[in-house]
Amino acid sequence: MAEKIIFDTDPGIDDTIALFLALASGKFDVLGLTTIFGNVHTDLATTNALRLLEIAGRTDIPVAHGADKPLVRPYHGPVPHIHGADGQGDVNLPPPSTKAIDQSAAQFIVEQVMSQPGEITLVPVGPLTNIALALHIQPKIAEKVKRVVLMGGAALVPGNVNPAAEANIFNDPEAAHVVFSAPWDVTMVGLDITHQVLLTDEQLKAFAASDKATSQHVGKIIPLYLDFAHKMMGRQVMYMHDPTAISYLLKPELFETRQYPVRVETQGMSSGKTWVWSRTGDFPPDHFGYNVDHPATIVVGADVEAVNAMTLSYV
Ligand code: BDR
Ligand code: CA
Repeated sequence: MAEKIIFDTDPGIDDTIALFLALASGKFDVLGLTTIFGNVHTDLATTNALRLLEIAGRTDIPVAHGADKPLVRPYHGPVPHIHGADGQGDVNLPPPSTKAIDQSAAQFIVEQVMSQPGEITLVPVGPLTNIALALHIQPKIAEKVKRVVLMGGAALVPGNVNPAAEANIFNDPEAAHVVFSAPWDVTMVGLDITHQVLLTDEQLKAFAASDKATSQHVGKIIPLYLDFAHKMMGRQVMYMHDPTAISYLLKPELFETRQYPVRVETQGMSSGKTWVWSRTGDFPPDHFGYNVDHPATIVVGADVEAVNAMTLSYV
């Protein structure tokens, strides 16, 4: 049976590949997209979510507009040098012909999860603000979701915004703290694994060469990201951050995981760091005096060739 998911996203080039992978696989019942700031402002994230569903011919999937800013701090702002000023590689898509539903992302999540207990997997691939707000509205969602599989964090490796933090957690550390502290089943698909799962410019050519509208769109938006990668690392490669969360859901047997409690730093120069510590009892309480002791599942390794082959099989 198709796994029911709510995809919480800030599209974003890798968000786009992840969404299209999820849809192309046919293995998910995508109940809705919820939008969040991150790669772009939330308004543009919503516009892009609607545009992408139109390209995929899936305007039946509702889009709920999410939070415009982090829980307690200002938004750091978009990253046009990575994803384009439009979040879609500066390809100037036409405006969508559909609209977001008249319900906030957090309300949508709460309503869906409470009405289908034990069935829904939340898949956040942006800052975790909507998920934290949903927990605030209805803490019982923690026991009613099936699980949370998120892209974000860096457990045993450096961050990508700075040495400490990965972008999604950096953008709202307080929200991430709420999500990792809640008593639910969380899997963290962070930089530990997504910096291993990458596609080269040669492999990425499959997108433009495909006859699918979705893949052709991806083929148009990736050059901007590849330019960025070339400037940063001297290599034209695409880190498959958000798609790896979908790949993990599709074939968990290709991945290696570990169990650790996660503590999110919310202060100072390491704000956004996802600390893990195996000696549970010795994990010091955080700034809120809260002691997280239940482990999250941290994805740390994969058969990368097999993961990439699976991704490319859906292009
Ligand atoms: C994450 O940050 C965003 O730029 C990407 O879409 C991904 O979700 C990677 O750190
Ligand atoms: Ca994202």
